[in-house]
Order: sequence, then C-alpha cells, then structure tokens
Amino acid sequence: MSNGHSDHSGDLSGSGLTLGYDRRIVSRDLTVSIPPGSFTVIIGPNACGKSTLLKALSGIVTPNDGTVVLDGKELSRYPAKALARKLGLLPQSASAPDAITVVDLVSRGRYPYQRMLRQWSAEDEEAVTSAMAATGVTDLADRPVDELSGGQRQRVWLAMVLAQQTQLLLLDEPTTFLDIAHQIDVLDLCADLHEQGGRTLVAVLHDLNHAARYATHLIVMSQGAIVAEGKPAEVLTEQLVTDVFGLQCQVIDDPQTGTPMVVPAHRRSRSREFALGSGLAS
Ligand SMILES: Nc1ncnc2c1ncn2[C@@H]1O[C@H](COP(=O)(O)OP(=O)(O)O)[C@@H](O)[C@H]1O
Ligand SMILES: [Mg+2]
Repeated sequence: MSNGHSDHSGDLSGSGLTLGYDRRIVSRDLTVSIPPGSFTVIIGPNACGKSTLLKALSGIVTPNDGTVVLDGKELSRYPAKALARKLGLLPQSASAPDAITVVDLVSRGRYPYQRMLRQWSAEDEEAVTSAMAATGVTDLADRPVDELSGGQRQRVWLAMVLAQQTQLLLLDEPTTFLDIAHQIDVLDLCADLHEQGGRTLVAVLHDLNHAARYATHLIVMSQGAIVAEGKPAEVLTEQLVTDVFGLQCQVIDDPQTGTPMVVPAHRRSRSREFALGSGLAS
C-alpha cells in the first residue's frame, strides 16, 4: 500500500453497510473506519449491534448492502486462508470440538499457514508456544478444553487467535469470564501487541473504564449506529453515558491514568423517590 507499511498495514473499513440476519436489520448505512495501528474499542448497550459489526468486519457476516475493505481489497475477494493470515477473530461465544486439548486447539490457529506440501514447522511450533506463554496457559497444554473454567477457556481461545499471528485482531469481549487481575492481564497483553507488535486491535468491551484506559480510538454504538467516536477523553462524557446507556453518572479522572472514569450515580440520587418511599433505603 502507499502508506509505506507494505501490505501488512491492516487498513480495515466498511462503508454503506446494512447488516442483519434474515429479515432483521441491525445496522443500516453504517460507515466505519478502523485507524491502522490503533487499539480501537467498541462500546454500547446490549444488543446494539457490536458483535454483528465485528462479524461483518471479519467476513463472518456478509453485508446485505455495502462493502468491507481490507488493505485496498474487498473482504469477500480474499480466499479464506489468505484472509485468516491477515485478520484473526475471537468470537463472543466460541465452542471447541469435543475433548480437544488446549495445545491442539491453540495449534488450530496455525491452520491458515498449512499447505499440501508443507508440514508442521518449527515456526508453527514457536507461534503456538509463545501464544500459550503470553496468555498463561502453558501449564494447561494437555488438559481437555471442556474441563477448564470459563476464564481459562477464554485465555486458550485468545492464545489460538494469537498463534494465527495476524496484523489485525478483532476481539469480541475478550475479558468475559475473567477475574479482575486476568482482565487486566489480557488488556495489558493487547496493549503490548498494539504498542510493540504494531498490530491493529479492535475489541468490544463492556467495562467503560477499561475502554477509556486502553483505547486509542473509541467507537460508541447505539441501536445499530455509531453515535460517537474519537479519543476516550473527548468521547466519554456524562451526557453520552446518560444518552447511550441510560445511566446517570459522574465522569472523573482515573487517578492512575487520567483517562475518564465513569462513576455511576448513587442509587439514592438516581431513584430518591423509590428509595425513600419504600423504606428500604440504607
Ligand atoms: N444469529 C442471529 N440471528 C438473528 N438475530 C441475531 C443473531 N445474532 C444477533 N442477533 C440480533 O441482532 C441484534 C444485535 O446483536 P449483537 O450484534 O449480538 O449485539 P451486541 O453484540 O451489541 O450485544 C440483537 O437484536 C440480536 O438479537
Ligand atoms: Mg456481542
């Protein structure tokens, strides 16, 4: 491409997208552009269309209308393996084949590199080993995936996507099921991939404070549309949280990072009438 990053720039965008399932339209005429090299985070209420957008951007859902373009070429024109070498997706609800072990599942991330005459290589081995180390699942290597806790399983899936070694990573709620320390581990890992690896990340997150801390670019969705985007400090305001999530709140500076921190209004100031009237306020 002309930006000097060769064809590994990970330049992903969609325009005029109409997305949905059968006759249910989720998004209409949606235009989105993922800044190359960004850590983009998508936030928005339940069922507003975040996963649908991520699926469209990764070729899992075919737009009813409009096009998704990756590095100058329409997504639908990529052969499956070629696309999988450029773009990895961690779906919101992934399910593993029965009785597969951790190391075997992570190894499936190397599938787009397999060819008829090319067997498993030292490079494949190294990719799997380092992906497992980065996500802290090395000790689980020989365990069946279906016997793991939700949090362990989530990290195994992440390892599989990392082993794919793509320039672009699309992660749908990568911190679901994780305790707070593991949530931060995963987000730190994402930040490292972004900062040191120069990768482009797109993640759907529910925690607005995590989104504000980690995102270089924040996209806010509501009812299938993008209603705001930009730097977290500019986007995440009290008004926006009230409008989009229906939550009264205060936005203060995160004492650690200075990024916006959303503090929900106390229930007594949110629903004073109910609290006083019900006699349960204490
Ligand atoms: N496979 C599907 N078939 C039919 N409708 C779906 C399917 N997946 C999602 N939807 C609907 O599309 C809308 C958007 O869903 P989704 O993109 O998963 O939202 P989010 O990820 O923001 O919670 C919801 O109304 C949901 O019920
Ligand atoms: Mg979702």
